Amino acid sequence: MTFPRERLDQLWQRGREFLGTDVAILGGAMSWISERHLVAAISNAGGFGVIACGSMAPDRLAEEIAATQTLTAKPFGVNLITMHPELDRLIDVCGEMRVGHIVLAGGLPSGAAIKRARETGAKVVCFAPALVLAKKLVRSGADALVIEGTEAGGHIGPVATSVLAQEILPEMAARVPVFVAGGIGRGEAIVSYLEMGAVGVQLGTRFVCASECVAHPKFKQAFIRAAARDAVPTAQVDPAFPVIPVRALANEGTKRFVEFQHEVIHRYRAGELEQKEAQLEIEHFWAGALRRAVIDGDVENGSVMAGQSVGLVTREAPCAEILAELVDQAIAALTLRTASPERVA
Ligand SMILES: Cc1cc2nc3c(=O)[nH]c(=O)nc-3n(C[C@H](O)[C@H](O)[C@H](O)COP(=O)(O)O)c2cc1C
Repeated sequence: MTFPRERLDQLWQRGREFLGTDVAILGGAMSWISERHLVAAISNAGGFGVIACGSMAPDRLAEEIAATQTLTAKPFGVNLITMHPELDRLIDVCGEMRVGHIVLAGGLPSGAAIKRARETGAKVVCFAPALVLAKKLVRSGADALVIEGTEAGGHIGPVATSVLAQEILPEMAARVPVFVAGGIGRGEAIVSYLEMGAVGVQLGTRFVCASECVAHPKFKQAFIRAAARDAVPTAQVDPAFPVIPVRALANEGTKRFVEFQHEVIHRYRAGELEQKEAQLEIEHFWAGALRRAVIDGDVENGSVMAGQSVGLVTREAPCAEILAELVDQAIAALTLRTASPERVA
């Protein structure tokens, strides 16, 4: 007979080996949030922290990696946005600083970027938004995949985590380690994705209210107060002026963005703006907005990016406690599965 804890370790063994951790839970990179303190705290607690490079310049990234290395001897990764104008240099910085895992996010990485990242000696993790792209990324050399559903916080695709898991896990799980992200807030959900073939999971929203997280107290309060339905995708007024979908808490900023799109489109129709100019104005609306919410605490006008699992965030707690709770819930779920029918009844 296998005990529930052993069963859990079997289920995510490949994920633990791939990451070099006790538990196969990645703390998904969050711009302005996933810096040295949160990343080191997640890794020190047995999970896998990931630095969000975001728009950092190469020198700034090097400084953040070095600072994180002073806070933890455990493995952690670096998340690079593929559109960054200095992507190649950022990859080189990760190589120079012996980063073990590079996560390429924010659009499909080129084969050349994956190759360059692998040549540093790092394991390369890519986001796969559909089965055909998952196959392409693996052919290009990705060592592992993250599949992230629309329930997630931050930039999102259109498909639910549960559907992506059914589409991608049966085909890809035997080829490379696959981690599931988006809408995961409890251990029971982790177990169900592991049983479907995932080797681990990635959570972002649940780590925002970690005691070690540097986000402004008002940002954390907004998370604690919010329900799942408050975390909504960006509204688009006119398909001719596409907006990048981001899931965030509804606030004055999200209301104002709808009005702003109407105003800009009105000015375009009145001949005051070229289409390109109008599109750029719309795109610039949110510039600096995540920083304003996370660092300055302006949760009314800033972008309070959050996933639907925000409803499961009820208090501030240390990373070790968050991870222990997830593992306990996973073990409880597995205990129920192995219990005799009489005990369940
Ligand atoms: C505030 C916030 C900022 C984020 N920033 C990034 C980012 O810079 N790069 C990235 O790849 N993902 C980013 N994400 C996504 C997370 O890494 C993670 O994949 C996601 O939060 C997982 O889904 P969950 O929110 O349902 O836990 C962000 C998420 C949040 C909530």
